[in-house]
Amino acid sequence: MIYPEAIRWSADGRSIDLIDQTLLPEVETRLQLRTSDEIAHAIRSMQVRGAPAIGIAAAMGVAIEMARHTALSASAFQEKLNDTLQQLAATRPTAVNLFWALERMRACAEQYRERTTGEIACKLYGQATAILEEDRAMCQAIGEHSLSLFPNPATILTHCNAGALATGGLGTALAGVYLAHERGRSVQVFSDETRPALQGSRLTAWELGRAGIDVTVIADNVAGSLMRTRRIDLVIVGADRIAANGDVANKIGTYALAVLAHHHGIPFYVAAPGSTVDLTTPSGDQIPIEERSAEEVRRGFGKQTAPADAKVFSPAFDVTPAELITAIVTERGVHHRPYHDSLRAALSPLEAIV
Ligand code: MRU
Repeated sequence: MIYPEAIRWSADGRSIDLIDQTLLPEVETRLQLRTSDEIAHAIRSMQVRGAPAIGIAAAMGVAIEMARHTALSASAFQEKLNDTLQQLAATRPTAVNLFWALERMRACAEQYRERTTGEIACKLYGQATAILEEDRAMCQAIGEHSLSLFPNPATILTHCNAGALATGGLGTALAGVYLAHERGRSVQVFSDETRPALQGSRLTAWELGRAGIDVTVIADNVAGSLMRTRRIDLVIVGADRIAANGDVANKIGTYALAVLAHHHGIPFYVAAPGSTVDLTTPSGDQIPIEERSAEEVRRGFGKQTAPADAKVFSPAFDVTPAELITAIVTERGVHHRPYHDSLRAALSPLEAIV
């Protein structure tokens, strides 16, 4: 199966090798990052993006940074670790996978606190690698479960990019699409352009297109008319954070899509790993929503598209209430309302933040 490897260790294991997603689809280039400063910049600037990939990048960032400081005393090493965790936690606020991954790294260092700094650094490297590999397996399982929801043939609408570029594996929302295609089923995808950063047209169309999957880009404002005039079997999107009651924060525009799907009687699915479920956040109202820079709207990709002094409101995410979501798919299966019960029952404390 052809899908891009968004993030991995370099061959010599000394750097983090990732696709620079800000340059796609025009240029496909890989970055080699060696410090937590570089990783923090990559996350903030969206060279690496998508909730699972952000978590993986942060975990690898901690590992690579701490490997540079094994000559420090035990207490100075610990101080450096705390600074690095804080630095990476401050990059983007909404995707809970970031905090989940950093917590795993902190707990790992804590567990081996009595060991030498070299041994702790080694354990951190192993933990980051486990986070990457587990994510790959979770994507595969999410794909299998979501495939059970797809008719054959299937016409699917998605938003933003919840594909391979956003994860350590096949993606979340797009994992079932890859598996459907691989198994010879007929699958057609409509991809919302996803203003203002254009993840749908730049990234989803790029990765599905190179896999030979039938993908059509639509401007965001086409979705309603598409649902009214053509057969759309289902909408499937990813998530940045799923609250305990099943409210979902995902890329801005997801909520509008869910309202449209509800109006047209089209199933609306959310696909995400357990690491995106935050049982400590009771509902979507408590999810912090990142605001992006006005320039992304006024002058996206170098073209002046609004007056230079135009006021801009640019939340990066919105919250879709649980009642608009037909089902949530995780690596554990397909979960239905009431999500408070089904998510809690399905996810062990190791997988979800509790
Ligand atoms: O701002 P981004 O590109 O990081 O936002 C990405 C999304 O909203 C995705 O849908 C979400 O992170 C799930 S990715 C598997």
